[in-house]
Parts: sequence; C-alpha cells; structure tokens
Amino acid sequence: MIDSDFIAGLPKAELHLHIEGSLEPELMFALAKRNGIAIPFASVEDVRAAYNFSRLQDFLDIYYAGADVLREARDFHDLAAAYFDRAAADGVVHAEIMFDPQTHTARGVAFETVITGLLSAIDEAKAKHGMSVQLILSFLRHLDEADAIATLDAARPWVDRIGAVGLDSSELGHPPEKFARVFAQARALGLKLVAHAGEEGPPEYVYQALDLLGVDRLDHGNRSLEDPLLVTRLARSGMTLTVCPLSNLKLCVVDDMTAHPIDRMLREGLRATVNSDDPAYFGGYIADNYRAIAAARGLGRDDLVTLARNSFLGSFLPDAAVTAHLARLDAYVAQAPAE
Ligand code: HPA
Ligand code: ZN
Repeated sequence: MIDSDFIAGLPKAELHLHIEGSLEPELMFALAKRNGIAIPFASVEDVRAAYNFSRLQDFLDIYYAGADVLREARDFHDLAAAYFDRAAADGVVHAEIMFDPQTHTARGVAFETVITGLLSAIDEAKAKHGMSVQLILSFLRHLDEADAIATLDAARPWVDRIGAVGLDSSELGHPPEKFARVFAQARALGLKLVAHAGEEGPPEYVYQALDLLGVDRLDHGNRSLEDPLLVTRLARSGMTLTVCPLSNLKLCVVDDMTAHPIDRMLREGLRATVNSDDPAYFGGYIADNYRAIAAARGLGRDDLVTLARNSFLGSFLPDAAVTAHLARLDAYVAQAPAE
C-alpha cells in the first residue's frame, strides 16, 4: 500500500521544477483568453491528449508553444502562485525553481516582466505558506553561448534575488562545454551552478558539467549509472542528483516505472532526490512522484525519508536552515501514525 498521506505531509524541498512546466491547461486557456491569443487546441482535454512524448524534443516543442500565453507580469505571477499552492499542499517547504528567460525574451517579453511577476509570487508564497524559494535562471542550450551571456547581463540588476543558473532544453548535440564561459561569469557573480546532464545525453556530458562548468548540483544525471567510475566520483563528492521519475517515464528515459533506478542510486551511495520537473505535462506534482516511485519500486518509509532528507542537504540553503528543516523532518517522522 502506498503511504499517500505520509508522503504528502513529509517536509521536503523541490529542487528541479521548471515554472513554465507547471502551466496547467486550464490556466493556459485562461491566459490565452485574457491576452487575446489564439492557441491550437479546442479544449483542455485536447491539450492533455497532445501530451504523449517519445523523447525530450517532442515535449519541448509543446512546452515552448504553451509558454506563448505568458505575456504580462501578472501571468508569470499567476503561474508561479498556482505552483506554490500545489507545492505547499504536497509538503514542499522550500523550492528552487527554474525559469527560462530566453523563451520569453525571444517573443518580445522583457526580462523585467518575467522576473517581477515571479518575484511577486515568491514574496506571497513566503507570507502565505511560509515557503522559501530561490530562483534558478536557466539557459537554453539549443541557443548559442552569446545569447546566454546576454541573458545573464539582462539579469544583473536582479542578481541578489537569483540563487543559481542552470542549463536546460535539447541535450543531445548541445554539450555543457558550449557554456563554460557563461557559467564562469555566473560563478564570479556569486551564483550557484546547476545543469541538466545525463537525461538523454551520455556520461561524457556529466563529466563536462562537473569539470568544465563546475556544477554544484546535477539535474537528472540518470545516465551516470552507465559509468561505474562516474558513480563512485559522484558518491564520494556527495553530488546531489535531482531525479524526476514521472518525467523519466513520460520522456522514455525509463521504459517502465518498475525499471526506475531511484533505489539503485540510493544503494550506490548517490545523493538522489525526487522532483517533478514539468508537472503539468508529466502527470503529477512532487508528492505524485514520491508515490509513483514508492509504488513501482516498493520503497518504504526509510527510503522516502532519505529522499526528503537529501532534498534539504542538496539545497542551496545555508547550513542553519538545513539543520532546522532536518529537525522538523525528524519530528514529523517521529509523530507520524504507523503505516
Ligand atoms: N530537460 C531539458 N529541458 C527541459 C526539461 C527537461 O526535462 N524540462 C524543461 N526544459
Ligand atoms: Zn528539467
């Protein structure tokens, strides 16, 4: 039996979430109407029916098209506010969320519009849910590095409100080495560094993310398991992997949830976490990801608690905040009714 309520109440951090990927079809329609935009779908059911992907690029094509309804600061606010409400209901007490400025600036939406909308929702989430949130500015790797550098330059006035930079979009053919200079610039600004690597790309891309970008955390990282030396290195260095089970299933990174390697990662000493990636597109938010993996792999409370513990250890929060979150997690486990 799945420990559904235990999972929902388990205090946790979400470390891999694309805010544009939390755009539910209902909100897509509402924003299309509010902004007078035509979308190529007749109904919410039509949109959901289109969400069948056999690889990352199938999804990205629809994800970028969907983002076109986001035009005004209040759209970004409403998008993020809806995510924070759902995350809070799923036990998320801290979230480090990615946004893709280039998806918007390329359509003529100013960086300022995007970030002011997101920041207003972040301030509200703190007041409403007691949730802390950090922003991860993610570069689109299918674009060139000059575009990423221009994006980092546009972000400079808000750098105090950004926690990290990331790297997402089409992985194959766009290795981390393409972005070594912009990542060095971000590090010089005091930002943390993350990158998607080893989702579809080979272990070589993970090595590049470590050695050429110097990432502080690895998004996905699944294909690291193909290289025992890399697994040892990741385990010894305590590198956090932000694993996204429902995403892995929808994008065919795994054939079946029963074949998901999450427990193998834990057994091999990797600091794996569970996250939702693009929940509106992949069929569930973070608690659904915990539930899906618990059901498919028969995870018990010990493993679920380890995953939640790892989410705080792998966060970019200061040590004192992590310590406080771990104490609350222990208190929750101690008082939880027996299975
Ligand atoms: N991989 C790469 N790029 C993305 C993803 C992902 O899972 N989600 C949104 N952009
Ligand atoms: Zn992702």
